[in-house]
Amino acid sequence: MTATHPQLVLSGMQPTNTLHLGNYLGALKNWVRMQTEMPCLFCVVDMHALTQESGYAKADDVRRATREVTAAYIAAGVDPKRTPLFAQSMVAEHAELAWIFNCVARLGWLDRMTQFKEKSGKHKERSSAGLYTYPVLQAADILIYKATHVPVGEDQRQHLELTRDIAQKFNNDFAAPDFFPLPEAVITGPGTRVMSLRDGSKKMSKSDESDYSRINLTDDADAIAQKIRKAKTDPLPLPQSEKELEGRPEADNLIAIYAALAEEPVAAVLAQYGGQQFSGFKNALAELAVAKLTPIAAEMRRLMADTAEIDRILKAGAEKASTIAAAVMADVKRIVGFVG
Ligand code: TYM
Repeated sequence: MTATHPQLVLSGMQPTNTLHLGNYLGALKNWVRMQTEMPCLFCVVDMHALTQESGYAKADDVRRATREVTAAYIAAGVDPKRTPLFAQSMVAEHAELAWIFNCVARLGWLDRMTQFKEKSGKHKERSSAGLYTYPVLQAADILIYKATHVPVGEDQRQHLELTRDIAQKFNNDFAAPDFFPLPEAVITGPGTRVMSLRDGSKKMSKSDESDYSRINLTDDADAIAQKIRKAKTDPLPLPQSEKELEGRPEADNLIAIYAALAEEPVAAVLAQYGGQQFSGFKNALAELAVAKLTPIAAEMRRLMADTAEIDRILKAGAEKASTIAAAVMADVKRIVGFVG
């Protein structure tokens, strides 16, 4: 179905706390590669950040994090001259299309979203309505540009399936066959689900209370090395085959992180380190992580020293994105029956 639509990549990250290794290996690293393969648009989803954070006290945090996430995109290798970067809130059509999609998506579909269940926890009735309809806005982020490819981590698979369902139902209900593409999730590489360094059964996450659970993109060499040295492991030596990684989530995670950072297959990492103790492997992993990540942190610091330049980049990116979004939104309004 996407064959009828020109290839276009869209993805985004939330400006809540600092980005971590999972965001980098699961998504950002693939964005850098994809920008040489297809046209891309990358945004900072600041409206999504309000689904859990709100109020005056948080406003400055959202603003600072929006700039910092933009700096991370650029520092990791996204070229703003080639690829528009912008904040979601700068292109009003995201919210406009999200309303239409709220009328397309079914409550039953949203009820199945596991991320809402995780984020709302035991207090569903106290969660914002925005948290519940979060994936509908995400579908609008993608489809307002008729994007065909969405590079994300494994945890976003269900949201991408919902995006396809919304696109399909819109196309059917409004007798607009093929109007929206059915976008594909691009989930590739060994780093699509990076786990906590403290607990191999939990995802590495911005919201984990323990800073030792994650490597932040802003961590310095000492912090990176210390977190890897303290990472949970099991008492056995490193396995020699992928089969033996089963049931050893911490070993699996550290090997996957090494493979993703070194851009080597897991089998090659096991061939090199299999049978060895964790201590030596952790030293090698710490060295690799420091070599790959500290230049990104340094470049982020340099970029954050000139926030006016970051704001200019976002504004220029938003202008380009708006041109596409306005044209799609005009068609949507006509299709659903709005007069204006
Ligand atoms: P967010 O901000 O939670 O995460 C940003 C990206 O990082 C990936 N990711 C991970 N990958 C591997 N291991 C992990 N531990 C890990 N943690 C996070 C996420 O899969 C994501 O790709 N809903 C999205 C934001 C969004 C979006 C969009 C994405 C809003 N609109 C449109 C794509 C297209 C999210 O929660 O991102």
